[in-house]
Amino acid sequence: MVSSGDAPGCTYTPRRTGRRRSQIEIAVLASGSGTNLQALIEAPGVSPHIRVVVSDRPEAPALVRAREAGIETAVVRWSDHPHRASFSVALADLVEEAGAKGVVLAGFMRVLSADFVERFSGRILNIHPSLLPAFPGARAVESALGHGVKLTGVTVHFVEEAVDSGPIVAQRAVEVLPDDTVDTLHRRIQVEEHHLYPRVVAAFVNGALTLEGRRVMWS
Ligand code: GRF
Repeated sequence: MVSSGDAPGCTYTPRRTGRRRSQIEIAVLASGSGTNLQALIEAPGVSPHIRVVVSDRPEAPALVRAREAGIETAVVRWSDHPHRASFSVALADLVEEAGAKGVVLAGFMRVLSADFVERFSGRILNIHPSLLPAFPGARAVESALGHGVKLTGVTVHFVEEAVDSGPIVAQRAVEVLPDDTVDTLHRRIQVEEHHLYPRVVAAFVNGALTLEGRRVMWS
């Protein structure tokens, strides 16, 4: 599914159903520059729901963006833990202590343990720079370019234990140009990411995303 224009997944306007949905407070996890976090900070209606921004890297620029926006930050260092399981427990405890019920991954470069995914089951979102299920993994833009696809893009999905495999919430396509490099293509993908992620996260924090099997419904 590639959504475009005003299709579900690209704009989110809460519908008046008469039913009161419960809102979801979130933790944002980021390892890098945090441009997606910045888009979330600037999105109407999302920022007040961000309880904490957590990074595995104390020097991550994403933490600076959060502090400048007055959002609480925390660091869980990978090197302080003997294995993924203990790192993930520390992370999950911190998220819950901050009062967050949902987790939004925004360029978080660590794979979460099965226990973490189970603890926040159906409440973890990720953004990935390809049209999944094509090109999962860390080098998605490079792989798409190397494969010679003419169309790639961005996917927002719920997180399951297997990397980049969970139910798809929304996608946007990006054309690959003949003279693209990894950098130029990734930059155009990121423009789409910064439009799409805030809209999906706004729907998520408003309790407007539900799962029916692998299909994500917007209400
Ligand atoms: C994004 O391209 C996202 O798709 C991927 O990691 C990158 C994070 O970029 N998961 P930024 O830190 O938000 O700028």
